[in-house]
Formats: sequence, structure tokens, C-alpha cells
Amino acid sequence: MPTTSVRAEASIKPDMEVYRYDEQIVRMFVLATAIWGLVGMLVGALIALQMPFWQANLGPYLTFGRLRPLHTNAVIFAFAGNAIFAAIYYSTQRLCKARMAFDSLSRVHFWGWQSIIVAAAITLPMGITTSKEYAELEWPIDIAIAVVWVIFAVNFFTTLRNRREKHMYVALWFYIATIITVAVLHIGNSLALPVSMTQSYPIYAGVQDALVQWWYGHNAVAFFLTTPFLGLMYYFLPKAAERPVFSYRLSIVHFWSLVFLYIWAGPHHLNYTAVPEWAVTVGMVFSVMLWMPSWGGMINGLFTLRGAWHKLRDDVVLKMFVIGITFYGMSTFEGPLLSLKSVNALSHYTDWTIGHVHAGALGWNGFMTFGMIYWLMPRLWRTPLWSDRLANTHFWVGTVGMLLYVMAMYSAGVTQGLMWRAFDEAGRLLYPDFMETMIQIVPMYWVRLVGGLMYLAGMVLMLYNMYRTIKSAPKDLPDPAFTSPREVAA
Ligand code: HEM
Ligand code: HEM
Repeated sequence: MPTTSVRAEASIKPDMEVYRYDEQIVRMFVLATAIWGLVGMLVGALIALQMPFWQANLGPYLTFGRLRPLHTNAVIFAFAGNAIFAAIYYSTQRLCKARMAFDSLSRVHFWGWQSIIVAAAITLPMGITTSKEYAELEWPIDIAIAVVWVIFAVNFFTTLRNRREKHMYVALWFYIATIITVAVLHIGNSLALPVSMTQSYPIYAGVQDALVQWWYGHNAVAFFLTTPFLGLMYYFLPKAAERPVFSYRLSIVHFWSLVFLYIWAGPHHLNYTAVPEWAVTVGMVFSVMLWMPSWGGMINGLFTLRGAWHKLRDDVVLKMFVIGITFYGMSTFEGPLLSLKSVNALSHYTDWTIGHVHAGALGWNGFMTFGMIYWLMPRLWRTPLWSDRLANTHFWVGTVGMLLYVMAMYSAGVTQGLMWRAFDEAGRLLYPDFMETMIQIVPMYWVRLVGGLMYLAGMVLMLYNMYRTIKSAPKDLPDPAFTSPREVAA
């Protein structure tokens, strides 16, 4: 059912209705993404410095232990979080041919989420933490997260119900999985008994606590850093490439197999612990099976560019997306490998894991976000991007920076792993002094810092480009309006 842009509302026939998309909320989330991205990565660079140069630990609030969770919370929930909200608010309205159901709830979602991030930025350096990774925030903030998330869900699902387009495109299914599962994971893992405003104890104990925590932790990766970004890929990549998705059937198989398999893979974080062997084996088997849907998704993304590869020469958005999808392929190839008990015996507790994390985070999440922002900027602010050249520089500085980061971490990780398990002929540890293994990898930490700073410099370039673009944008940015036959909406 075609919709047309409205020139003069007065000329609309009585059997036609007018509807408008809320673009202001998307602009707000885009700006928040870029600003929090800068903050989160600045903290990342600082903790990267603190590892080889302990003097940079400025106690007690700015030590590595306090700032590390601030980094992870800022980049995951503030940078990646605001990016997926921008993607969801922009694409859902278009895929449903309907405005978000409640403008007021969109604003509560936006300001509520930013307040939660500020609360995290205050409490984490103060040492107020549950000490559960990626779920460090204490119970009052956890309740706020649950409330804001439910508000988001009500707004999203009501918009789905109000849709003018009968078919639900695959991106919407990825968003649905995200919204439902994150609510279940967050509420399930955060159940705790408060003893004061700043302290609580989880209702789970011992091994159960570990298992619930890593069911959450792993699926935070799956349903916060993967499924919404796949939805983003399925919407924005065909738009940018001006090609339909390679195989719609494959995207559906991709969706159902991915969501079914991911939820079981959490125990691979608990290899060689007190968790029963069979449970860890289940985690490992499901992780290996995950290879298939993950690569199905990657192939579907890359093949969408068939016949359009020449566009990569000039189109920075497509370049960003190609790096993003390629790194999705790399980290989902590496993940199943790391879950194998024999490989995990070498990689666990080493910087290999940090390399894996940042291949996914910088490559997949970062570059998909940058691609989306560069695609959205001219559309949301109705003016050409200030500088394509600067965006291109961002692409190269970011790519080289990320490669330096991950190569340094792979090299550090394998060095650590091999040194920890090296024995002499008598069966004694060859490097019993832990410091010896640390000193060995200090040069790699410096390389990681250089790579991280380059990636951060790319972010600064993007922010400057955004600032200049917004400065040259028209003052008045009315919401775009469309018409549709009234009976279809019924
Ligand atoms: C300038 C860019 C960045 C730098 C310099 C940086 C640096 C760091 C450092 C030094 C650590 C601590 C590693 C350790 O404990 O040994 C870390 C951890 C982490 N970072 Fe980043 N980071 C950056 C960007 C990002 C982004 C964009 C994301 C996510 C979207 C991210 C997600 C994480 C996660 C999840 C961890 C915890 C890893 C684990 O516990 O295994 N980082 N980062
Ligand atoms: C098929 C997909 C994937 C599988 C099977 C997988 C598997 C794994 C395994 C086995 C570990 C190491 C656990 C350990 O030794 O402690 C790990 C760590 C991690 N992975 Fe993945 N991974 C996948 C994709 C990704 C992607 C795409 C990202 C990021 C966007 C990611 C983010 C992380 C993070 C943040 C950790 C560190 C968790 C911690 O703090 O210990 N993974 N993953």
C-alpha cells in the first residue's frame, strides 16, 4: 500500500488519513549515543592506561576497579543502548507505518534511561556495586531500569498493534525478542534482598547464583549486543545498499534458530568451575550450534551487497556496515571456539577474552552504530553530512585502531595462557611468579592503548562532523507526514 508525502494537508480527501513520524525522539537518542560513546570510550582509554602505568590510578574513586564497571556500563548500556533505541524508534515507525503510540512514554523512556546512566556514573566510582558483571547497579537503580524498560515495551507493542502494514518485517521480530528477553533477564538476575539503600544480597546462592548470573551475562551479549543490532542490520543495510535483503527466508531461519540457541549457551562462561560438568557441556554444545545461525546472518548481510560492492568505494555508510558485519562473523566464529573446553583451558582468565569482546564490541556494535548514524544524520537533520572526507578518516582511524587493539589482546592472551601452563621436565611450573607473566605483556598493553586512542579519535571526528552538520541544518524540522487510505488503517 503506497504512501505519499503530504504537500498540503488541506487537500487531503476525507477517505485519507494523515500520520506523522516522531523524528525528534530519534534525534535525541542519536545525540545521546554519540555523547555517551565518547564518555564510555574515554574511560576505556583511561583504564587501558592504568594497566601498564599504575600511577594513573587516581584513588579512591578513579582506580581501575571502580572505573572498569563504569566503562562496561557506559559503552554497553549508554552507547550501544541509546544506539539501539535510535534504530528501533526510527525503523519501527516506518515498518509499521505508524507514529510511536505515546510521545509522552517515548520521552519518559529517553530521560529515564539517561538518568539511570547518570546514577551509574555516580554510584560505580563510589564503589556501590552488586559485583555481578554487567549487573553491577544496586537495587533502586535496578527497579528504575525495569520500570523504564516496561514503559518502552508498552510504547513499542502498542505501536505494533496500531500498525498500518500487516506484514511484520524481520527487524521487528528481532526487536520483539530483545524487548521481551532483556526484561526477563534483568528482572530474573536482579532479584535481591535489600539491606540498605546501597546494598543488597541476591536471592540465589553459590553455584545457582553463578549460573543465573551467566545466563544473564551471556544473554546480555545475545539480546542487547546482538539481536537489536541484527534488527538494525536488516533494516538499515538494505536501505543503504538500495537492495532487498539477500534472502528473506534465511532471515527468518536466522531469527528463530538464533533466539532458540542463544538462551542455553550461558554456562560456557563457567568452564572448570563448581557448576556440574553436564551443564557446562550443554553450554558448549549450544555455543557450537550457534555458529550456524550467526554465520547465516552474516552471509545474509554480506550477500545483500551483491551487485552493489562497487558502491563501497564512495559510500562510507556501506563501508562501516561491511566492517561491522565482518567482525560479527569473526567474533561469532571465535565465540564457539572459545567455548570448547580444551580451548577455554588456554583462553579463560586471559586477555584473549578481552580481544574477543572488543572484536564484537568495537567491530560489530561500534561500526554498525557509526554506519547507522552517518546514514541517519542527513535524513534527520535534512542537510548533507558536513564532511564525507572526515567520515572516511573516521572509518580508517577506527579500523586500524580496532585491529591494533584486538591483535595486541590476542597476542597478550595467548602469551599469558601458554606461560601459565608451561612446565619444566620435573613437572614444576616454569613461571610460578605471576608478575613475570604480567611484565611480559606490558608492551601489548601499550599497543592496546594506542589502538584504543585511535578508535576514540574516530569518535571525536564523528562528533565534530555531527556538530557541523547540525549547525548547518534548517532551524525548523517538522515531523515528516504521510497519507494512507482510511479503511486500511481500520
Ligand atoms: C576506545 C575504546 C575502548 C577502549 C580503550 C577499551 C578498553 C577496555 C579495557 C582496558 C578493558 C578492561 C580489560 C581488562 O579487564 O583486562 C575493557 C573491558 C571491556 N570493554 Fe572496552 N574499551 C573500548 C571500547 C569498548 C566498547 C565500544 C565496548 C562495547 C560496546 C566495550 C566493552 C567492554 C567490555 C564488555 C569489557 C569487559 C570484558 C570482560 O570482562 O571480559 N569496550 N575495555
Ligand atoms: C556465537 C556467538 C558467540 C559465542 C558462542 C561466544 C562465546 C563466548 C565465550 C566462550 C566466552 C568466554 C568465556 C570465558 O572464558 O570466560 C565469551 C566471552 C565474551 N563474549 Fe562472546 N561469544 C559469541 C559472540 C559474541 C559477540 C558478538 C559479542 C559482542 C558483541 C560477545 C561478547 C562477549 C563478552 C562481553 C564476553 C566476556 C564475558 C565476561 O565478562 O567474562 N560475544 N564469549
